[in-house]
Amino acid sequence: MVGYAFMGAAHSQAWRTVNRVYDLPARARMALICGRDTGKVADAADRLGWEAYTTDWRDLISRDDIDVVDVCTPGDSHAEIALAALAAGKHVLCEKPLANTVAEARAMAAAAATAQAAGVRSMCGFNYRRVPAVTMMRQLVAEGRLGVIRHVRATYLQDWIVDPQFPLVWRLQRDRAGSGALGDIGAHIIDLTQFVTGQLITGVSAVTETFVKERPLPAGSSGLAATVDGAGSADGNGSAPATGPVTVDDAAVFVARLGGGALATYEATRFATGRKNALRVEINGSLGSVVFDLERLNELEFYDATRPTTEQGFTRILVTEGDHPYMSAWWPPGHIIGYEHSFTHQMRDFIEAVATGADPAPSFADALQVQLVLEAVTRSADLGSSWTEVEPALATVAA
Ligand SMILES: NC(=O)c1ccc[n+]([C@@H]2O[C@H](COP(=O)([O-])OP(=O)(O)OC[C@H]3O[C@@H](n4cnc5c(N)ncnc54)[C@H](O)[C@@H]3O)[C@@H](O)[C@H]2O)c1
Repeated sequence: MVGYAFMGAAHSQAWRTVNRVYDLPARARMALICGRDTGKVADAADRLGWEAYTTDWRDLISRDDIDVVDVCTPGDSHAEIALAALAAGKHVLCEKPLANTVAEARAMAAAAATAQAAGVRSMCGFNYRRVPAVTMMRQLVAEGRLGVIRHVRATYLQDWIVDPQFPLVWRLQRDRAGSGALGDIGAHIIDLTQFVTGQLITGVSAVTETFVKERPLPAGSSGLAATVDGAGSADGNGSAPATGPVTVDDAAVFVARLGGGALATYEATRFATGRKNALRVEINGSLGSVVFDLERLNELEFYDATRPTTEQGFTRILVTEGDHPYMSAWWPPGHIIGYEHSFTHQMRDFIEAVATGADPAPSFADALQVQLVLEAVTRSADLGSSWTEVEPALATVAA
């Protein structure tokens, strides 16, 4: 694994757990973790359960006993690490968004296709697909229980940078992150809704905004947390901190058309005061509707318009039965699961695919298609919201 902070911890938790919960054809051994700071990566290896650590990710590539490379770094290093790993015959799991640019994502999808011919697998970490209620939404749509899909309504709302004094962490820098709320959390709802509906976004009209254009430089950061102190000050003596420009969007809002004829709306923002990690998706079809809310991730609301009118209404389904997706290995019905389980499910599917010689999803080609949507959104916003077609990527939205 490369990276040991937010996703590094979430993925480590999943690698530690997956073989203890699921009966799989292969076992994960947590061989080597990489970070750039010797002391911190040594501590992370101990805390997160890795056998050894290194400060150079190339050590993962050169070791013959390493089969899988898990990329948990910011987007500016995804392409370089993933391309080197695939070329060396390592299976690759790469965090989302796949890359910072379409060009990088294209190179990664091409390398993944070449590697695939040699039996080398790759997958992008859109973990929300693996929340059981989300997988079940997809099943309901695929079984025709919603009929023809007319509307998709997706929001992903956070508020961690509402304070203008929150520092200029990597997520607010285009050269490190590619884009802002759009690529970070917008990418999740793009993938999730395409996965659930089985339809790809074909065109968009977008607005984006950067509300706070200049921020103090950070002293330290990890995930969505950061600090500013005197070390970051303009004169080095702890007075007014030095600042730098925010080069990504704080919020992105767009309307879209889906390939099957549905109309969709998307909102991704880091300025929804009071909303911490609020991901909500509603889908309306000719025969019914479903609603998923991450803050109630064990539940699915389902409206079945084929029932007698006297019995119609939104039903709250508790998605904790043994025959719900992924749930057979967990607890008795009603004993709920959480955020981290989506990563354990991701590792389950990845290990199973690698061990059985199947292609895991979402593939790098699927993730390239998401990148093309991100690019279309940015282009549309730059052109005053003009209608912008999404370039086809020949992606599938396979389960
Ligand atoms: N699937 C999800 O729900 C989810 C959630 C958060 C982040 N992410 C994605 O995960 C990735 C990492 O985000 P994060 O929140 O964990 O960031 P983070 O800042 O918490 O951690 C990044 C880690 O990468 C390390 N790193 C950076 N450059 C490196 C390099 N060149 N070599 C070795 N290590 C390097 C840092 O030291 C740190 O350990 C991003 O692509 C992000 O979009 C996904």
